[in-house]
Amino acid sequence: MTHDPLLIFDEIFSRARSIEGPLYNAAALATVSVDSGPSVRMVLVKNADARGFVFFTNLLSRKARELAADSRAALCFWWPRLSIQIRVEGIVEPVDESEADEYFATRPRESQIGAWASQQSEPLASYEVLLRSAGEVSRRFANGIVPRPPHWSGSRVLPRSIEFWHERPGRLHERRLYVKTDDGWESSLLQP
Ligand SMILES: Cc1cc2nc3c(=O)[nH]c(=O)nc-3n(C[C@H](O)[C@H](O)[C@H](O)COP(=O)(O)O)c2cc1C
Repeated sequence: MTHDPLLIFDEIFSRARSIEGPLYNAAALATVSVDSGPSVRMVLVKNADARGFVFFTNLLSRKARELAADSRAALCFWWPRLSIQIRVEGIVEPVDESEADEYFATRPRESQIGAWASQQSEPLASYEVLLRSAGEVSRRFANGIVPRPPHWSGSRVLPRSIEFWHERPGRLHERRLYVKTDDGWESSLLQP
């Protein structure tokens, strides 16, 4: 058995992709709010490899502002069919412009338009205003590709710890925690 938690994650993530449905890559992302309180919302993890876990968002959003002030973050995945939870804690760094461009280009056109139309996390006078904004963006780019907005990009959570939780009978669940050290990953079991 491998002792690299990212390889273990990979194997579970591919099983989740095949049986958990289209939102298999949804995870709760926790950040630290400006008053040091917790702040959490769902994101889609679009890329997971040896470096970490990538999600994309508006760089002016609440989450992005919080991460700019404090780069610590946590992710929590839950796959009901696999009965597995994975918790990741680490720090976040921005992805390269090229990685963001590449992913943005694969998004459906409506989502690309939405990225321009929405000032994510800002107050909105009415839903009509948002629809009007999307209509204007749509007309503006009517004759060509929709470029990636400068305020839209990706962030990579670089893991410092990863915990695997497997549901077991009698609530005697199996928890294994991996913590990154200078020499690699150290693992230990936790009580359920
Ligand atoms: C299943 C699911 C997946 C989501 N994925 C993303 C995502 O990948 N990026 C994103 O910016 N918002 C995503 N959202 C919306 C966020 O949960 C959140 O409402 C939005 O990003 C604003 O959060 P903030 O104000 O804390 O920045 C998703 C919501 C759900 C329910």
